[in-house]
Amino acid sequence: MKIQIINGPNLNLLGKREPETYGSESFESYLEQLRARYPEHHLAYFQSNVEGELINMMHQVGFDYDGIVLNAGAYTHTSVALHDAIAAIRTPVVEVHISNVYARETFRHSSLITAKCAGLITGFGLEGYAMAIGFLTRRK
Ligand code: DQA
Repeated sequence: MKIQIINGPNLNLLGKREPETYGSESFESYLEQLRARYPEHHLAYFQSNVEGELINMMHQVGFDYDGIVLNAGAYTHTSVALHDAIAAIRTPVVEVHISNVYARETFRHSSLITAKCAGLITGFGLEGYAMAIGFLTRRK
């Protein structure tokens, strides 16, 4: 299966950014482990701090990939455009957050994208990405 992982703004700083909330491992290091765990699947990775680039990537893979794992970062809480992009494509999207957004500030309690996603995983650290991949690879 072809799965695209998409990380949004500030997630390039994983490992350095607020380690008490997001842990001390970089995404690149976690990705190596993920690829070793799922050698039979193609796991593509893209990160951008720019909303439109996230949308361009959704359009690029959204009609022939088998799944998208999306951590839209703070755009989760603000982006009508990402909501519309998920609605526009055919590939199922799993929304992932490393932290438990419901245990944090109230502005993180609303997501503009959950309603268009296959499901939501929040609060399980980086392991949430593996959970999302597990779901996507077993759903067919
Ligand atoms: C996050 C949660 C968001 O509220 C925040 O803006 C992020 C990261 C998470 O993975 O826990 O950038 O998506």
